[in-house]
Amino acid sequence: MDTPHLAKLLMKHGSAPERYASATLDSLRPEQDPGGVVTGWPATDVPVLVLVGRTHVGKTYAGCALINGYAPADPESDWGARYFRCLDLVNPDGSVRDAGDLSTARTAGLLFLDGLGTLLLDAGLRSPITPDLPSPVLYELIDARLGERKPTVVATNLAVGDAVPYPGVPTFEQVYGKIADRLLYRATVAHLVGPQVLAE
Ligand SMILES: Nc1ncnc2c1ncn2[C@@H]1O[C@H](COP(=O)(O)OP(=O)(O)OP(=O)(O)O)[C@@H](O)[C@H]1O
Ligand SMILES: [Mg+2]
Repeated sequence: MDTPHLAKLLMKHGSAPERYASATLDSLRPEQDPGGVVTGWPATDVPVLVLVGRTHVGKTYAGCALINGYAPADPESDWGARYFRCLDLVNPDGSVRDAGDLSTARTAGLLFLDGLGTLLLDAGLRSPITPDLPSPVLYELIDARLGERKPTVVATNLAVGDAVPYPGVPTFEQVYGKIADRLLYRATVAHLVGPQVLAE
C-alpha cells in the first residue's frame, strides 16, 4: 500500500484540516475576537459559541484556535477536542454519513461543528423557510451534547440575532428551525468582521 493511502487510513477522523494546525488564540486578530468573547469563552460555562461572519473572515481559524488550545480538565475521561464539517457528519438528505464519526462528535470534550449554514444550501434546498427539514441527526447531536453539558463551537455564515454577515442573508433560525432554537438558547455569539483573507 502506498504511503499517502496508508496515512489517510490512519488519519484520525475529527481532526481539523492541516492548514489550521498552527492556529492559536494568541494569534487571533481583534476582529476575530470581538470584545474578547472567543478567547474568554472557554472560561465561561456557556455551552455554545457561535462564530458568525462572511466568507474568509477567519471563522474556521478561530474555532481551530479553540480546538488547538483545548485542555481537558480530566484527560483520563475526556475524549478531547474534535473538528467536523457538518457535511462530514450528515448527508445532504439528512442521513448519517458515518456512525463512528457521529459518535466521536457526540462524545468529544469540545466539538467544533464547522459550516453549519451550508448544509441545506448544498442540498439544493434553497428556501430559507424550512423549519422541519434540518436533519434530526444534527438536532440529536446538539441535544445530546447540551444534555451532557459538553461545549460546542459552531461556525456559520448565516445571520444570528444582530450578527448579520451581509444584507439579505437568511437567518440561522429560518434555516435551522428547532436546531437553532436549541443551540441559541444559551450561546455566546461572536460576530467576526473583516478582513476577508483568501486561503492559500
Ligand atoms: N489570525 C490569523 N492569522 C493568520 N492567518 C489567519 C488568521 N485568521 C485567518 N487566517 C487565514 O485566513 C484564511 C481565511 O480564514 P478561514 O478559513 O478561517 O475563514 P472562514 O471564515 O472559515 O472562511 P469560509 O467562509 O470559507 O469558511 C485562512 O487561510 C486562514 O488560515
Ligand atoms: Mg471556514
